[in-house]
Amino acid sequence: MTTFSRSSDAPAADLAAAPWSLIPALRPHEFRRLRALLYETCGIRLREGKEELVRSRLGRRVVDAGASTFAAYLDRVENDAVRRQFAELGALVDALTTNQTAFFREPAHFEFFTTKVLPAIAHGTRPVRVWSAGCSTGEEPFTIAALMREHLPADRFAGARILATDVSTRVLARARSATYGARAITAIPSALRRRMLEASASGDRFAVREELRAIVRFARLNLIRDWPLRGPFDAIFCRNVMIYFDAGVRQRLVERFWHMLAPGGYLFVGHSESLGTLTHGFRYVQPAVYVR
Ligand SMILES: C[S@@+](CC[C@H](N)C(=O)[O-])C[C@H]1O[C@@H](n2cnc3c(N)ncnc32)[C@H](O)[C@@H]1O
Repeated sequence: MTTFSRSSDAPAADLAAAPWSLIPALRPHEFRRLRALLYETCGIRLREGKEELVRSRLGRRVVDAGASTFAAYLDRVENDAVRRQFAELGALVDALTTNQTAFFREPAHFEFFTTKVLPAIAHGTRPVRVWSAGCSTGEEPFTIAALMREHLPADRFAGARILATDVSTRVLARARSATYGARAITAIPSALRRRMLEASASGDRFAVREELRAIVRFARLNLIRDWPLRGPFDAIFCRNVMIYFDAGVRQRLVERFWHMLAPGGYLFVGHSESLGTLTHGFRYVQPAVYVR
């Protein structure tokens, strides 16, 4: 399972601010320890033979954290985890994975959500609940919120809630700021842009409107640990997260999602992910969409 899905594998860009000579060597036992740590804490599989890539991606963070060796840096990550302060673990995950996301990413999902899922729950009695698991910087949950506002009756929308979680505190801070640059918002259909966003005075930053922000709750949650939350959810979006996990971790995750969904609830996974090799009770609906 690959851990590196960013397009550039070259060290140069990552090391722009930290000369290569300052980056400590990554010794074989440190690489092994890093692999074990990442797998045990986050379920993330780091492939063998990726030492140089890890050094290039993580080296800058090691230097910035004031550690003179990778071992000293890993001590710090472990210490943080013991004290249940996960900032450095999040930074480690950020350095070695991608947080890439976009408004309306994989639009077929949002077409299905709009035409099939929302009409089915538009008139229920239980409040609508959706979970964006691995929400990165917030574009996914805010896309969901915007569609709910467009397609649910006002009272159903007001009572609806979206839980948006990620393991990285850094991306969550950006998500909570709910402010995006001009490039990010080009993915939003132009008819919706105004209703979704407010431009800053300078016109180059765009804030998600308060009524959408009000229904989204961001929280830090490691998907392979305890989930201090209660279902049922009408839909779970866990897209482009499971690519980092091996089959065992994915299997457990999909079973847990099943229990979190209401009967008839939908699971959306990334289009490059599939439940094909796993054992589960979901029914396949269309590519990367499953129903309980
Ligand atoms: C590529 S982004 C996907 C964002 C969004 N779901 C999308 O498809 O556009 C993957 C996210 O998964 C998060 N992640 C990785 N391992 C995780 C874990 N064990 N628990 C929770 N989130 C995790 C990363 O921090 C990252 O923000």
